Amino acid sequence: MRLLVTGGCGFIGSNFICYWLKKYHGDKVLNLDKLTYAGHLSSTIDFDENKNYSFVKGDICYPEIVAKCMKNVDIVVHFAAESHVDRSITDPTIFSRTNVLGTQVLLDAALRVKVKRFHHVSTDEVFGDLPLNSKHKFREDTLYNPHSPYAASKAASDHLVRAYHYTFGLPVTITNGANNYGPCQDPEKFMPRAITNLIENTPIKLYGKGDNIRNWLYVEDYCSAIDLVITKGKIGETYLVGGSSKELTNYDVARLIVGFFGLDKKYIKFVKDRSGHDRKYAIDSTKLKTLGWQPKYDFDKWLSKTIDWYKKNTWWWRPLKAKAENLYRKTGQI
Ligand code: NAD
Ligand code: DAU
Repeated sequence: MRLLVTGGCGFIGSNFICYWLKKYHGDKVLNLDKLTYAGHLSSTIDFDENKNYSFVKGDICYPEIVAKCMKNVDIVVHFAAESHVDRSITDPTIFSRTNVLGTQVLLDAALRVKVKRFHHVSTDEVFGDLPLNSKHKFREDTLYNPHSPYAASKAASDHLVRAYHYTFGLPVTITNGANNYGPCQDPEKFMPRAITNLIENTPIKLYGKGDNIRNWLYVEDYCSAIDLVITKGKIGETYLVGGSSKELTNYDVARLIVGFFGLDKKYIKFVKDRSGHDRKYAIDSTKLKTLGWQPKYDFDKWLSKTIDWYKKNTWWWRPLKAKAENLYRKTGQI
């Protein structure tokens, strides 16, 4: 099989390529990535010399580049996106361009060459949020109700993907995943920001009261879910992917992280809240589980392993840290 992976220099995309090349030895993977502030060639060093891997630096919004990359492709796995909610609050335009227009350019090209599968990697944020004390979980039939410009642009992209299936018969699947964590996540996101702050002897910064709830999914569990949906999922269908963490507030997660560092709550500082901050995400992955998927990675154990990864790989995140903190200097969440 020949795969076109978009956004393979980002967090989940690079972990996915690594996963796929290890598992499917004969497959060829072409990575199309613009190398935005969130794309790092340093995230591809574990596979960039693999003879089945190639890389093109390019923008998914440009039809000519996309058409070239789409030649002879069997499967598209579309990760490329602007992915950070805080950036979508300070600069929404690029989110519509990349996440909506970019997805449409890819869909048009995929249709022309008649790919066997277009897999769209999406997020649980398209469903909006739940009250903090809610017992409900998002399911595949939950109505879309995105709140941030990021979530709205991802919701629009999901609708476009489904429209290309219904109108043109493009064989698509979609996964809507929970908050991923693991190696090679940019230090602007909560978990790597918290860990790298502590390595630098700076407190974790918690938005608002720290009572927002997220569901945490180890990145390799999202990769295996995408794999299963591509290989066994039903065309035209959507699958929700939740992680193994129990219900944890951001404060709970921060307490766990300071604990792993042998520190106490003095290393947690409360800062200005995010505007329109989603309260709670919770996911019901029953549909995916009927295909035989289970999250394998226990939260506490893999949080600890993730901390170890950032401790051992300071070369990877140090060059990115100042840029991430500049964002928070602008937003006042420092
Ligand atoms: P990321 O920000 O780490 O990486 C995004 C990648 O896309 C980068 O390599 C960037 O250079 C590339 N890119 C951005 N604009 C591009 C363009 N115009 N053309 C080509 N490449 C471009 O993102 P991530 O956290 O790895 O998320 C990947 C996908 O998974 C996104 O679609 C996101 O919405 C979705 N998702 C993320 C999470 C999460 O917790 N991180 C959870 C669920 C779903
Ligand atoms: O749910 C899936 C989504 O998870 C993905 O679609 C997004 O691409 C991904 O960025 C993530 O979105 P969140 O906004 O949930 O993730 P973030 O890491 O930015 O924040 C996680 C929580 O932590 C959120 O409640 C905001 C809070 N936070 C964040 C940062 C950066 C803090 O309290 N302090 C911080 O420094």
